[in-house]
Amino acid sequence: MKIAISGKGGVGKTTIASNIIRYLAGRGLSVYAVDADPDISLGTALGIPDEELRDQTPLIDLKEVISEKLGDGALYPLNPRVGDIPDRCAIDFNGIKLLRMGGVKAGGTACYCRENSFLKAVVDALVLDRDEVVVMDMGAGIEHLTRGTARGVDAMLVVTEPTPISVRTAKVIGQLAGEIGIEKVRYVGNKVRTDRERRFLEESFAPGELWAVLPYDEEMLEGSLEGGGSTPTKGRVADRAADIAERLMAESRVGTPTATS
Ligand SMILES: Nc1ncnc2c1ncn2[C@@H]1O[C@H](COP(=O)(O)OP(=O)(O)O)[C@@H](O)[C@H]1O
Ligand SMILES: [Mg+2]
Repeated sequence: MKIAISGKGGVGKTTIASNIIRYLAGRGLSVYAVDADPDISLGTALGIPDEELRDQTPLIDLKEVISEKLGDGALYPLNPRVGDIPDRCAIDFNGIKLLRMGGVKAGGTACYCRENSFLKAVVDALVLDRDEVVVMDMGAGIEHLTRGTARGVDAMLVVTEPTPISVRTAKVIGQLAGEIGIEKVRYVGNKVRTDRERRFLEESFAPGELWAVLPYDEEMLEGSLEGGGSTPTKGRVADRAADIAERLMAESRVGTPTATS
């Protein structure tokens, strides 16, 4: 099962991603957690100690590895063999393997084509060649995904708060995701405090489009302070994220005899 999570900054992507990841790992599944948001907070949210996170260079900055895989010349293979990278470069923590992508580099005078090709190849390898569960915590930009990798993504959760701006961003992302070929775009409301906010979200989307709604949990902050920044593993938000993980597994039939990924 391959899941991508996107949405405007601050809506709760990392919170939901980390809960889903830990829930699935807790069920005994091998899970790749991919931090593809320049904001890089997934490792901390998962409870991985700072000392370990500090030593991990984002994939896009692994100059020597990129040279090894693509050579140093102007011409380089379009499909470099990077199948060993996920294991080689991940932090292993309680059944979770964390990879940090680093931002897709854009323009200026320098050309980052090689770096970007490398990143693309790694995402390709993870999404298309791996049997493990992959959960990608993305920013509002989904440029790590291409038409090629999108067909391997079972679902994209687009998280939104009950505000017009957040909903607007969610819809733009949802549209883009659809355009690159992601079939299941799942809008998820988060931080919902009142019936009015819930209604606002329901009315903002076509009937049935709002796939799940998580409450605002006052105790989240306290739990996160106690846990040194990690997402609380107990409470209403964690429970709802577990429901989401179960629904995603049911949809992609993980763990049943017909499972293909
Ligand atoms: N359902 C919720 N209830 C209360 N606080 C939440 C909830 N979801 C997220 N938060 C808080 O909102 C802030 C932003 O969440 P985060 O997951 O980092 O967002 P993103 O990854 O989308 O930028 C964090 O402080 C987080 O603890
Ligand atoms: Mg985040």
